[in-house]
Amino acid sequence: METGPTRMTEVSTAPHGYRIVEIPESRKDEFQRVDQLAFAFEPDAATSAQVPLTLDWSRTMAAETEAGTLAAVHASFPFALPVPGAEVPCAGLTWVGARPDHRRRGLLSAMIDTHFERSLGRGEPVSALFAAEPAIYGRFGYGSAADDVRLVIARGAALRDVAGSDDLTVRFEPLDRSVHVPLVQAVHAAAGNGRPGWIRRDTTLLRERQLADPPAWRDGGEPLRVVTVLAGETPRAYALLRRTADGGARSKVLVREVAALDAAAAHRLWSVLLDLDLTATVESGMLAVDDELLHLLVDPRAAVPKLVDNLWVRVLDVPTALAARRYSAPVDVVLDVTDTRLPANAGRWHLTTGGQGSDGAWDARVTSTTDPADVTVDVRELGATYLGGRSFAALARAGLVTEQRAGVLQGISTAFTWPLAPVCSWSF
Ligand SMILES: CC(C)(COP(=O)(O)OP(=O)(O)OC[C@H]1O[C@@H](n2cnc3c(N)ncnc32)[C@H](O)[C@@H]1OP(=O)(O)O)[C@@H](O)C(=O)NCCC(=O)NCCS
Repeated sequence: METGPTRMTEVSTAPHGYRIVEIPESRKDEFQRVDQLAFAFEPDAATSAQVPLTLDWSRTMAAETEAGTLAAVHASFPFALPVPGAEVPCAGLTWVGARPDHRRRGLLSAMIDTHFERSLGRGEPVSALFAAEPAIYGRFGYGSAADDVRLVIARGAALRDVAGSDDLTVRFEPLDRSVHVPLVQAVHAAAGNGRPGWIRRDTTLLRERQLADPPAWRDGGEPLRVVTVLAGETPRAYALLRRTADGGARSKVLVREVAALDAAAAHRLWSVLLDLDLTATVESGMLAVDDELLHLLVDPRAAVPKLVDNLWVRVLDVPTALAARRYSAPVDVVLDVTDTRLPANAGRWHLTTGGQGSDGAWDARVTSTTDPADVTVDVRELGATYLGGRSFAALARAGLVTEQRAGVLQGISTAFTWPLAPVCSWSF
């Protein structure tokens, strides 16, 4: 395997009149202020007190004016990104914002260059994010790599039977952080086994943030409740939810997150969520597009789906990233990659699979080559395919990938896609 882009430690240049600086925790208030102006919010005292700031202060950066005013900010999380058959160090880009009076001067562009340089310097071959607006990140080489589906389901929607569901017990409780933070963490982490994109919350702050429930977030609904499905005393599934107070048995169940360890637990959990008194509908929150609920509904039309882009992925180091994930079938292909922002990725890369693991997936080697290209692909589309949720053939039909050797799309599409659809269950 060869190394892609040169490892750089210095930060890139900023537009005239600005400099890119690291932000220590002592500048926390200034940092937060920029995002409040960018995202148009102002937390009240209770919200500030109850919602932990999850930032890693060794990974917070800003664009500062010559006078020392922060004009734009960003940060990243050090994630282990689940990818097909493996996990890859990943910089989870977050808190991106420019003050409205400093926008469209190139500050985001400069911060993205800084983010790429520093991520590569830390040995993170990919970056991932949730996009506030989908039009922002494609220009920087991020590809839309996963979707989630949000269902509105009528109360009482029937489910197909699952053996063992009736043997499980259910608790419906007010949120108790001392109990539910560790319970949610344990089930969430295990529920993602084998699913690309299912990023774990690996710090205490991220775990507590997921269960934060300040009154300002309730939108007239009740405080957060936790439904737990148990086998004996062992949790097998949970839902974080609140019900609205719409009166006349017209309330909604608003689900923040669900996770289940097996089909019986998923069945038991949804059986409860779909039959709560005084409610009329359930809003599922972010589910994988192949979530078990979609297969269990007797009448799929009982659920109205909304498809939303989920993780966006930027491949920062093509050979390292492609060799770090695994493949669904043997493949031997030359990719001609374009990458205007990180030119060391550009050129022809020979990807060839070697051994098949006990899980049935294939390892791969990636080397630079002068052999003729089989497929031409921009790094943005490479990011889109990275989690196994997009097909090269489908991207070629959209004119975004070009087949240079007839017939190669069949094999490369099969190799890059993955049996479980990628999704991240929480946004960061
Ligand atoms: C998105 C945001 C960070 C962009 O910052 P910025 O400093 O104005 O961006 P830049 O000046 O570097 O713009 C770079 C390019 O992206 C484009 N762009 C920036 N924001 C865009 C948006 N929201 N939609 C579409 N294009 C956008 C610019 O037009 C520019 O295009 P060009 O290279 O063709 O000229 C800023 O507008 C902002 O804070 N928005 C509100 C918060 C937000 O959405 N943050 C993103 C969280 S994921």
